[in-house]
Amino acid sequence: MSTRVSALERARRDYRPRSPRVLADGLAAAGLTEVARPAPAAVDEADALRAAFPRTFGRPAVRIVPDRGGLARRPLRVGVVLSGGQAPGGHNVVVGLADGIRALDAGSRLFGFLGGPRGILTGDTRELGPDLLEAYRNTGGFDLIGSGRDKIETDEQLAACRDVCAAMDLDGLLVVGGDDSNTNAAVLAESFEAHGVRTAVVGAPKTIDGDLKGGGIEISFGFDTATKVYSELIGNIARDARSAGKYWHFVRLMGRSASHVTLECALATQPNVVLVGEEVRERGATLDRVVEDVARVVARRAEVGRDYGVCLLPEGLIEFVPEMGALIGELNRILGSEADAFDEHRGRGEGATFLERRLSPDAAHLFGALPERIREQLLLDRDAHGNVQVSKIDTEALVTAKVARLLARWKDEGRYRGKFSVQTHFLGYEGRSAAPSNFDADYTWSLGRTAALLVAGGRGGTIASIGNLAAGPQRWEPRGIPLTSLMGVETRRGRRVPVIAKALVRLDTEPFATFARERTGWEVEDDYVYPGPVQYFGPEEVAGRITETLRLESGPKPWRSEGAGE
Ligand code: FBP
Repeated sequence: MSTRVSALERARRDYRPRSPRVLADGLAAAGLTEVARPAPAAVDEADALRAAFPRTFGRPAVRIVPDRGGLARRPLRVGVVLSGGQAPGGHNVVVGLADGIRALDAGSRLFGFLGGPRGILTGDTRELGPDLLEAYRNTGGFDLIGSGRDKIETDEQLAACRDVCAAMDLDGLLVVGGDDSNTNAAVLAESFEAHGVRTAVVGAPKTIDGDLKGGGIEISFGFDTATKVYSELIGNIARDARSAGKYWHFVRLMGRSASHVTLECALATQPNVVLVGEEVRERGATLDRVVEDVARVVARRAEVGRDYGVCLLPEGLIEFVPEMGALIGELNRILGSEADAFDEHRGRGEGATFLERRLSPDAAHLFGALPERIREQLLLDRDAHGNVQVSKIDTEALVTAKVARLLARWKDEGRYRGKFSVQTHFLGYEGRSAAPSNFDADYTWSLGRTAALLVAGGRGGTIASIGNLAAGPQRWEPRGIPLTSLMGVETRRGRRVPVIAKALVRLDTEPFATFARERTGWEVEDDYVYPGPVQYFGPEEVAGRITETLRLESGPKPWRSEGAGE
C-alpha cells in the first residue's frame, strides 16, 4: 500500500457503516432462524439439481434474527477469497467478516486466499489481522488480497481445495463473486460435506454488472457505486456535448452479458439514444436496423440544429444482435475446439481461409464484411468459459462507422444535412475499483457480518443476502439463501450443467418500462440530468441516494418465500 493516503481515504477510514440493529456491535442479539424453503426450481431441473447436490439441495433459507438461534461463541478460523472482476465494496465484505467473527469471539482469525480461487488451490494465504484491515476500511479495489478468474471444477481441483481448507482447519470459507463463482461455491460446499470437511462454504453476491440477482438477491454489490461513477462521467460528457455543440459521443458501458449498467446510467442521465441489448434481441433487430435507429435520431436532431448528442450502448450489445451473436457462437466453437490448428494457420497468414471453411456461409459473409480491427478483436483469446471477451471489442467504433456511412448516403439523397463528428468512450475499469458509495460500504459490511453468522451457524451452501435494501440500513433484512435455490440447468460446452444463470434485463419490469416510456422525450430535446460525483458526506438525499433500478424495482417486495411466516 502507498505511504501517501488521500484526504478522502483518511476520512473514509473513520466512516462506520450503518447496518440493521441485529448486525450491530457485538452481535449479541444475533441468531439464525429457518424460513420455508425457497420456491423450488422447475421439476425436471429440481431432479437434476438434487442429483448434483444430494446433500445441499432443498435446504431452507435462514434469517438473522434477534436472540433466537443461540449461536455458539467460540474462536472461528475463516478463509475469504475475492473472485472475478473488481467491484466497489469488496474490502468491506472482508472487513465486515473480520469484525463479525471477532465480535463473536475475540480469538477468531481470518485468512485471505491470494490471487482469487487459485489461492485456494495452492494454499497461498495471508492472515488478515485487525491492524492490516484498518487501512482498507471503506476503500475500493481488491488489492488487499487480489482476485482472479480461475475456476475450481475438476475432481483434482476440488480435492486440492478440500485438502487446503482441512489442513488450515477452517470453520468457514467465504467466496465473494458473481454467478460463476457462486456456482463454484455451491459445488465446493457439496464436495466438502460429501468428504467430511467441516468448512462451511458461504457466498456473497458481487459484480458491477448487476446480473446476479433474483431469488432473494436484490442487487449485487458494486453496481451502485460503479453506475454512479459512470453516470457522473456521462453527465459531464452530455454537458460538454451541449456546450460545444459539435460532437456526438458514443459511450460503451461494461456489462459482460446484461445491460443493467447501461439501463441504470440511462435512467440517471437521460441521454439521447440508448441501446439495450436484451431489447435488441427481443426485437430480433439486425445490426443494420440498430444503426438505422441511431441514425434517425442523429438526423432528427440535426434538423433542429443539434449536431451533437449522447448515445449509450452496453458492451454485451454485440452478442445480442442476432447475426453477430450467431457469428460469435460459431467462432467460440471453432476457437474452442481447434485453437491450435487456427493459431498455426494464422501464423502462416492463412487464418481467414481456415475460418471461411468452417463458418456457415452467412457467418463467413458477415465476418468478411466487418472492419479489420473488429475481426481481429473477435479472434482474441477467449475467457475461462470459452467466450469472446466483449470488453475488448470496440462495438462503439463498429456502430459509429456504420452510422456515418448511412448518414453519408442520406446526405447524398438529400435526407440529412447535418454534420456527424464522433467521440467514443468505453467506461468500465474506471468504476470497478472506486471507493464504495455509502450504500455499497454499508451493504458490503452487512454482507460480511451476515457471512460471519452463517459460518458460525454452520450454514454451508448458502449465500449471504440483505433484503429490503431500498428501505435503508435500519430496516434491512439479513439472511442466508441456499445457493442451489438460485440454480438452474444450462447447456455449456455441450453438457447440461447446474449453474446460477445470469439475470438479464427484463423488459417487463419497472426500470425498463420507465425507460421505454420516457426515452422518446430525450431524443430531440436536451433533457440531460447531471448526477455529479459520488458523495460520501452531506444530505441523505445526495449521499444516500440509491440507484434508479433499485428504487423502481422495490415497489412490491421482490422476495418472499412461501409460508415464510414473516
Ligand atoms: P465479474 O462478472 O467477474 O464481476 O466481472 C464483470 C466485468 O467487469 C465485466 O463487466 C467485463 O466484461 C469483465 O469483467 C472484464 O473482465 P476483465 O477484468 O477480465 O478484463
